[in-house]
Amino acid sequence: MSELLHTDPEVYEAIQNEMARENNKILLIASENYASKAVLEAQGCVMTNKYAEGYPHKRYYGGCEYVDVVEDLAISRSKAIFGAEHVNVQPHSGTQANMGVYFAVLKPGDTIMGMDLAHGGHLSHGSRVNFSGIFYNVAGYGVSRETGMIDYDDIRKIAIERKPRMIVIGASAYARTLDFKAFHNIAKEVGAYTLADIAHIAGLIAAGVHPSPFPYCDFVTTTTHKTLRGPRGGMIMCKAEYAKLIDKGIFPAIQGGPLMHVIAAKAVALKEAMTPEFKRYQEQVVINAKRLADNLIKMGYNLVSGGTDNHLMLVDLRNKGITGKDAEAALDVSGITLNKNAVPFDDKPPMITSGIRIGTPAVTTRGMKEGEMDRIAEYIDKVLSNVGNENVYNDVKIEVMELCRRFPVY
Ligand SMILES: Cc1ncc(COP(=O)(O)O)c(C=O)c1O
Repeated sequence: MSELLHTDPEVYEAIQNEMARENNKILLIASENYASKAVLEAQGCVMTNKYAEGYPHKRYYGGCEYVDVVEDLAISRSKAIFGAEHVNVQPHSGTQANMGVYFAVLKPGDTIMGMDLAHGGHLSHGSRVNFSGIFYNVAGYGVSRETGMIDYDDIRKIAIERKPRMIVIGASAYARTLDFKAFHNIAKEVGAYTLADIAHIAGLIAAGVHPSPFPYCDFVTTTTHKTLRGPRGGMIMCKAEYAKLIDKGIFPAIQGGPLMHVIAAKAVALKEAMTPEFKRYQEQVVINAKRLADNLIKMGYNLVSGGTDNHLMLVDLRNKGITGKDAEAALDVSGITLNKNAVPFDDKPPMITSGIRIGTPAVTTRGMKEGEMDRIAEYIDKVLSNVGNENVYNDVKIEVMELCRRFPVY
């Protein structure tokens, strides 16, 4: 990066500091990961220079023969991995992917049914402060107060009463396996489309570690940067019958020129996702999450739904007398980065919260296994049992640095 150092030392320094942060801290944010050097290389390539409005072999600009190659590769690889009939790899983000689907088949004022943000859903599933809750009527659903899990009978009741045009399945903070078939049966009964937003669990699905939404769902959206471990971006998959509508829903409806350097990096990440190593990685992500969860439960922490089936867990800290905000801050100064998170039926505001969300995709990419999960659980407990004690923060920070040194990122 000598060119960058010469041209813009301030940006150079910020990037170096970010690199050090990613290397020297334990990253437990469930939606983050470390993209490979090959992915980073593709994302930093000359394809950022190219305008390519349209789709492969049908563009509004000349000179698209090489960007066509990478977009074709990204499409064919995702079809092979997920068994999708049609794929659009152009959404700039997960939110744009969802917006593209809504634009393709809904009209403003139609009713969508998605999981409440406060119960683990995503902003783009109908939150009042997001376009999805502004353009559409929203029938929210949540988890059961008793079990912390989705209650499919309850969802069926809401669907029959509210008659949504689309049921959105997926979450940002739900630790249990999603039953796509059950959602499909409910949607069929009320005449709704189904959209599975697999942003968080796409890598698990690609590796066969979580059931696939195909053939049950009409539309499947994902981000490419979470468990899928690619560049920051989105993707839409669907049945062949919706191909034209979906493509128009992205370009020209809500986006202009695609980010071809990012699409190149998506193609690389998808190639990596086809390897046996990737399957083993995803299996380890889940093993690590279960191990971390078991440790925390033994230490007296309450996990929403009592555990995890996937890459994340939601810890309700109310019995420990700590807020999510204070826990996040204390852990961060001790070298452990995660996020505060509302728990279902939370009595605290979103900037405070009663919980934290913990995910294992990033630490597993570093090569950490069950033994390291035992250490991490001990560090978390040590900090949260001593909130405000700087000596404890410093002791944990030293141990974290040592652990990180043994598992370099790049
Ligand atoms: C379930 C789900 N869908 C969509 C998104 C949105 O992705 P992006 O941040 O790329 O817009 C997220 C991001 O956290 C998510 O968790």
